[in-house]
Amino acid sequence: MITCPIAASTPYDVLIGAGLLSRAGELIKEALPARRVVVVTDSHVAPLYLEELLYSLREADIVCDSCTIPAGEASKNWRQLGELLESLAQSGLSRSDALIALGGGVVGDLTGLAASLYQRGIPYVQIPTTLLAAVDSSVGGKTAVDLEAGKNQAGTFWQPALVLCDTDTLRSLPVTVWADGAAESLKYGAIASHELFDNIAKGGLKTAPDKHIAACISMKGQFVAEDEKDTGARQYLNLGHTFGHAIEAQSHFTLRHGQAVAIGMAIAARAAHLAYPDSNCIREMDAALDALGLPRTAPYPADQLRPWLTADEKRRGDRITLVLPRQIGRSELLTLSLTEAKDLFARALNL
Ligand code: GLY
Repeated sequence: MITCPIAASTPYDVLIGAGLLSRAGELIKEALPARRVVVVTDSHVAPLYLEELLYSLREADIVCDSCTIPAGEASKNWRQLGELLESLAQSGLSRSDALIALGGGVVGDLTGLAASLYQRGIPYVQIPTTLLAAVDSSVGGKTAVDLEAGKNQAGTFWQPALVLCDTDTLRSLPVTVWADGAAESLKYGAIASHELFDNIAKGGLKTAPDKHIAACISMKGQFVAEDEKDTGARQYLNLGHTFGHAIEAQSHFTLRHGQAVAIGMAIAARAAHLAYPDSNCIREMDAALDALGLPRTAPYPADQLRPWLTADEKRRGDRITLVLPRQIGRSELLTLSLTEAKDLFARALNL
């Protein structure tokens, strides 16, 4: 088992390794005092892993209930959040109790938001069962639901008390779901480590998942420790996301997040080439995305995608900060007016 400590305002560990689900009760008992929990999961994950988790919790004398939401991004909304909060209240959950998110990014974001709101905040544990949640959304405390206006438009920063990443749960992921996580992992390499980028492009996540997930999480942990509220260095983690979120929103979330981020990174490489004359990592980025079976061409024209930049959660007034890979392993933050950013987006799309 690899332990990655996250030095956030409330510090916690990310534990990564095989067989952790069956040890979840004992590990959670060591990390937090709650003796009563509600496990939130979804209709895909529940049949696979819920019983094993509940068994482990009961073995550790933790009283547990569960709540299963419909799988998919469509569950990340106010109505589902309200239903979850009502069910927690009806079950009599108190401030000394905790939530456990068992699933991918949707379950993690919704559970984290519910934990931050319920009785003004209770602890929660993340147990990611997708690669994407393991390398990104389960760590760092960003919680959210989507609004009509765009993705992640309402949320909080609320750090988990523990993250348990059982690499066995990643083995059964469908190819497309695995590729989503590969896109988020490649992002870390593109931001700050050419070596990690190459290793992930060569399939390192398959051969040594714990080592490569830990490398991604360690890097994320450094950004979170430096800038928990995402006003400075943490913005690097948005590489591929500003353009990717526009594509995802335009698809009405029928395009998977990781696929949208992959296309967003291909566009970011092109935008970097336009913004910095010395930058040319387009071929390297494209080759890595191809090697991982990820898309790199936007399925919509620029005039449909440009308006979504206005809805981006990272916009500050009429300014927006883009993350551009000047070289693989060396990205830059570039703050532009919304008009300039939209123009760069359109030109990069057409390159
Ligand atoms: N997913 C980017 C972040 O957590 O900041």
